[in-house]
Amino acid sequence: MSFLPPGAYKPATDHWGSFEKLSKRLPEGSVAVVDRTVTRFHPGLIPALEARSPRAIIQITGGERAKNFASLEQVLAGGLSLPRSGTLLAVGGGTIGDVVTVAAHLLKRGVRLVQVPTTLLAAVDSSLGGKGAVDLTLRGRVVKNPAGVFHYADEAWICPEIFSSLSEAQHREGAIEAWKMVVCLDGPLFRRYVRKAPALEKLVKDARRLKESVCAQDPYEQSGLRRVLNFGHSFGHVLESLSRFKLSHGDAVGLGMLCALDVGRAMGVTPGKVATQVEEAMRAGPGVLGRDRIAALLRRAPLSDVVELLAADKKAGKAGELRMVLLTGIGAFEIRDVSEATWRNLWPAWKQGLRP
Ligand SMILES: NC(=O)c1ccc[n+]([C@@H]2O[C@H](COP(=O)([O-])OP(=O)(O)OC[C@H]3O[C@@H](n4cnc5c(N)ncnc54)[C@H](O)[C@@H]3O)[C@@H](O)[C@H]2O)c1
Ligand SMILES: [Zn+2]
Repeated sequence: MSFLPPGAYKPATDHWGSFEKLSKRLPEGSVAVVDRTVTRFHPGLIPALEARSPRAIIQITGGERAKNFASLEQVLAGGLSLPRSGTLLAVGGGTIGDVVTVAAHLLKRGVRLVQVPTTLLAAVDSSLGGKGAVDLTLRGRVVKNPAGVFHYADEAWICPEIFSSLSEAQHREGAIEAWKMVVCLDGPLFRRYVRKAPALEKLVKDARRLKESVCAQDPYEQSGLRRVLNFGHSFGHVLESLSRFKLSHGDAVGLGMLCALDVGRAMGVTPGKVATQVEEAMRAGPGVLGRDRIAALLRRAPLSDVVELLAADKKAGKAGELRMVLLTGIGAFEIRDVSEATWRNLWPAWKQGLRP
């Protein structure tokens, strides 16, 4: 008999198939939270859920603005009558998944959570690993993810037909995050990807396996191992902010990976050949944008803004130094502290869209 409370870490259980088929796994009397946008593209979703006699189906329009206390309260209110043994189902991208994860943690001090990721980003990243959070708005500025929990999903249902309504940019964004895991964690797989780009299902399966293997070793982010998942995110977050979030998170991370390769080379950590190979593969495979996009964003940003953005980065070390994931080879990485002088030296080339 297991005494693990709902939401405690255990290895992910994935089920693949159509939503209609997998929805039959939903216990009667569950509460479902569904991204309204997704229901518009996939009109069969709500009837399939209704067939399971849920206590409530809550519709929320997905997007970063949904990740607030109002949505959280809406989910908590809808889930009030759920018993502790009940199930909360999240059908949506990372934003719906994050809010519902927090709600699953709070409701009755923890209920069972099932995730149905509907974006590729959610499928390869956010629906796995137990994290959920909501944003706070302070003096008009949105602070991302300050109020969060760890609450692992019991199951994930991956329904490939739901991804058919995603835009090309949304596909690229998820693919970049998936390739990121392969580049850092699995050299042989990376080489296979370079020879032949993987089909969508394989990409999702591989990325989930790799992320799961990291989470299994560091389920509550204590050993620091999970930091590897932040490859490309230090400068990625800077570029995302400088673009005022016009650049998608995934595209920003892709460009941030190029910056991390440059930093790694400058510090003698990343061999030049590795950096070249990875950059070429990221362009040809998931379709990382060109360096001209880095240049366009940096040209209009004062250096002081970048220093401030990097300092605010939660990956910064204790003394305020920049702590980055750098590749030592393909499928191998190190966490290193990077001095301001190091990245400032790269600045002139980045500003011209050149590889330093
Ligand atoms: N918990 C974690 O570990 C983790 C990891 C990475 C990112 N995140 C979070 O995830 C969020 C981003 O996730 P996201 O990119 O999935 O965002 P999202 O949930 O905002 O989805 C993006 C957009 O796509 C729409 N959409 C969703 N599924 C669709 C479908 N099948 N077809 C058409 N449109 C669809 C949504 O309505 C939304 O407008 C961020 O808030 C980020 O902080 C969390
Ligand atoms: Zn990311």
